[in-house]
Amino acid sequence: MARPRVLSGIQPTADSFHLGNYLGAVRQWVTMQETYDAFYCVVDLHAITVPHDPAELRRRSRVAAAQLLAAGLDPERCTVFVQSHVPEHAELAWVLNCLTGMGEAGRMTQFKDKSAKQGESAASVGLFTYPILQAADILLYQADRVPVGADQKQHLELTRDLGQRFNHRFGETFTLPQPHILKEVEKITDLQDPTAKMSKSSSSPQGILDVLEAPGTLRKKVMRAVTDTGTDVLADDDNKPGVTNLLRIQSALTGTPIPELEARYAGQGYGTFKKDVAEAVVEAFSPIRERTEKLLANEAELDRLLAIGAERAGAVARGTMATVRDRIGFLPRA
Ligand code: TYM
Repeated sequence: MARPRVLSGIQPTADSFHLGNYLGAVRQWVTMQETYDAFYCVVDLHAITVPHDPAELRRRSRVAAAQLLAAGLDPERCTVFVQSHVPEHAELAWVLNCLTGMGEAGRMTQFKDKSAKQGESAASVGLFTYPILQAADILLYQADRVPVGADQKQHLELTRDLGQRFNHRFGETFTLPQPHILKEVEKITDLQDPTAKMSKSSSSPQGILDVLEAPGTLRKKVMRAVTDTGTDVLADDDNKPGVTNLLRIQSALTGTPIPELEARYAGQGYGTFKKDVAEAVVEAFSPIRERTEKLLANEAELDRLLAIGAERAGAVARGTMATVRDRIGFLPRA
């Protein structure tokens, strides 16, 4: 039997992925390449929904792809590609735009959050239709599963709604995808504001741990992370959000269950605990940083791998779009 399909994407909007991207998404991508027919893309079309610099986007797209390979995605076992290399993403997004209600798109909370920053009327229409392009990414590959963090739940619901609507109006065409969200790591929070999501667009540099950051900086940031009153290392989301976030991070990185960590640090205060969290982060990130640097030193090879990915992704995307064009009633080109 064919393996179930997985698709996910990540934006090349920063110089490095952060711990939230890594634990919430990328680590699952690596695991899932073993048992799924997996497609992972660097979503550069999404990256231009906010103002950007062209040279920087090009550089960050390579850095993003290199980090994915460095984190363990193997081009022999999964398909890694750049979204703009497969023009069908934009084409399907157009079709889905025409099936989405203004009100429906207007309810997307990420748009509300992101547009509030620049003022809603200054936000681009592209930012408004961002989730519809995301739906196109997913539906194009007939994905069964989409590994993401909790912040993407609403976009996944929209994706299912649009897929279902298309199927209903034009005939069974799309697989309806399920989100794949791991509870323990679905929302890694900001080290300085542990009730907010760790985020490349809104966290302060002190609140975010970047995969490509120097070990010394990572250690400092963890040691300075906001902890809570008291001295007990205990998971308690309501009263100890800072400590709880660090416990989740350490547990995810070391594979040690939280109760075991709580017992280990009983009566020791926060110092030793934070030092160990810092080491766990450095140990996880250092090999990824080193491999990323090596991959970036050979751009031609990296671009070659991405071209292979685009070829494989394009074959699937062209197949789906041929059906979509037919179902929607576009006149075939003679
Ligand atoms: P992006 O680049 O903003 O985020 C990439 C992934 O990281 C997850 N994430 C987190 N998980 C846990 N804790 C956090 N603090 C944290 N911050 C980010 C995100 O949930 C995401 O899974 N819209 C997508 C990009 C996208 C996409 C797709 C995803 C475009 N097309 C198709 C899946 C399928 C996004 O948020 O990217």
